[in-house]
Amino acid sequence: MIELALRQSMRCLVVAGVLFGWMVTSSTASAGDASAGSSVFKTECSECHSVKEGRNKKGPSLFGVVGRAAGTIPDYSYSDALKQAHWVWTADKLHSYLSQPAKQANPGTKMKYSGLTDPKQLDDLISYLSTIH
Ligand code: HEC
Repeated sequence: MIELALRQSMRCLVVAGVLFGWMVTSSTASAGDASAGSSVFKTECSECHSVKEGRNKKGPSLFGVVGRAAGTIPDYSYSDALKQAHWVWTADKLHSYLSQPAKQANPGTKMKYSGLTDPKQLDDLISYLSTIH
């Protein structure tokens, strides 16, 4: 009896261990490396964007962009295309938006960017942007 119960709980532990391992590896696989992302930001985006709150350059400040509704920095003059964009900048949305030319993702936008095709750089960059709050 005791032996059976022991065997049952061992099996539970193994299942839990496998599940936990899977969770850890799957979350790190999609997470990206924020510090590598910071240099991607410098080379790809900083010509036009700052991550400082309230600091607009050619493009609007990207402070707190992950989780923010598109086109909503009050003192930035957006194109109509972005003003009328009814989406929130989630990690997924940024992923699809930044992986293609901006004018394709949001026709009529004034963001002149041809897209970031390297999936690792894209993951790193989005992880970095998620830390800016
Ligand atoms: C050549 C300049 C330029 C580059 C390079 C550029 N952007 Fe932009 N970005 C803009 C402009 C201009 C806008 C405003 C677009 C509009 O109003 O249509 C914008 C808008 C955005 C928005 C929407 C912000 C909001 O408030 O809704 C995001 C997000 C964004 N850019 C991310 C990026 C990222 C990340 C990079 C680097 C991978 C990048 N951009 C590179 C010029 C640029």
